[in-house]
Amino acid sequence: MQKRSVRDLDVQGSRVLLRADLNVPLRDGEVADDWRIRSSLGTIEYLIEKGAAVIVCSHLGRPGGQVDPALSLTPVARHLTRLLSRPVAMVPALTGPDALATVDGLEPGQIALLENLRYDSREEANDPGFASELAALADSYVNDAFGTAHRAHASTEGVAHLLPAAAGLLLERELTALGSVFDAQGGKRAVISGGAKVSSKLALLQSVVQHADVVCVGGAMANTFLLAQGVDIGASLAEPEMAAQASEIEQAARQHGCHLLLPVDGVIAHDPDNAPQARPINFAEERVPDGFRILDVGPRTIEHFSAAIADAATVVWNGPLGLFEKNAFAGGTEAMAHALAALEAQTIVAGGETVQAVNQAGVADRISHISSGGGAALELLEGRDLPGVVALPDATQRDANPSESA
Ligand code: 3PG
Repeated sequence: MQKRSVRDLDVQGSRVLLRADLNVPLRDGEVADDWRIRSSLGTIEYLIEKGAAVIVCSHLGRPGGQVDPALSLTPVARHLTRLLSRPVAMVPALTGPDALATVDGLEPGQIALLENLRYDSREEANDPGFASELAALADSYVNDAFGTAHRAHASTEGVAHLLPAAAGLLLERELTALGSVFDAQGGKRAVISGGAKVSSKLALLQSVVQHADVVCVGGAMANTFLLAQGVDIGASLAEPEMAAQASEIEQAARQHGCHLLLPVDGVIAHDPDNAPQARPINFAEERVPDGFRILDVGPRTIEHFSAAIADAATVVWNGPLGLFEKNAFAGGTEAMAHALAALEAQTIVAGGETVQAVNQAGVADRISHISSGGGAALELLEGRDLPGVVALPDATQRDANPSESA
């Protein structure tokens, strides 16, 4: 269902509460990676251009309802000021008279950033009182925080019921790209899934084998599948307790006509920190020696995976295929990034480490859509509803009486 867009709101001369996901890594008190902030600029600039005063709000990290100065959004306000070439006023109080006094003084085109929403325990509790206090700051509400849309918090869910509400431009782009992955009429659909644990991707795998034509499994997660098939994986990271679920996923894939591919070779080492010792191994010809670990997929696996996705219409990639943060084991993930970038297909990359991998490989500009959400993207691909999206009105819905509902 299409959600009401920020483009449908009349914001001229009014105050808009904009929920963004500005949860970015900090280093030495400065923003270490501003990709998420830059992804949020479009909606802020749109609202300014339309003559609104913008009150941006976000969480940063998980302070657990306590004020933690290390998780203040002040460095983000400084960074936003630079990116927008406009002052962004920091509002230390989240709600209440002090916050109201600041936002009352905002002129059209001016921007304020509330302090970390998670300094208040009522945010994550989706407390109705806190949602009302947030709503009191503005005339309308725009949710652009795709990365947090899977959380039913006061700023992502509660407040959406209290003001005329709409989806921001980033949220719209994410929903269009990820929401339609498995709706494609015709065309081959492929998923590449990596990362460490089957347990964290179980729901995703159970869902995608029902909808995709091809699923390629890599990363340490693949070790559990290999173990379930009786492959000797030596001292490799695996979840033996998930072996039965891995077999069930393989069976479900067969039932749904989904081609599930596992690594046929890998790069092994005794110690991930001892790069010179790393060597390739073909699983059909050799067992992983005792004490050795599979730390990357091998070249034949990349060939198989690349061939399987070559004629796909849509390819989604989530999770690295090896220990890519170490050079000796980054080859598989990097080769996969290049294979994806070379496709004509609609290519979608989701998840912090996978985004990092395509950036590291220098191919980010050749990917159709890079998602700003990790957990949210996974939940959407699992076919789950995102509370932050569900709470927004449908495109066709009218506000009965916005002033009454506020
Ligand atoms: C994220 O980084 O995935 C989002 O900002 C959500 O953060 P959370 O997992 O702490 O809710």
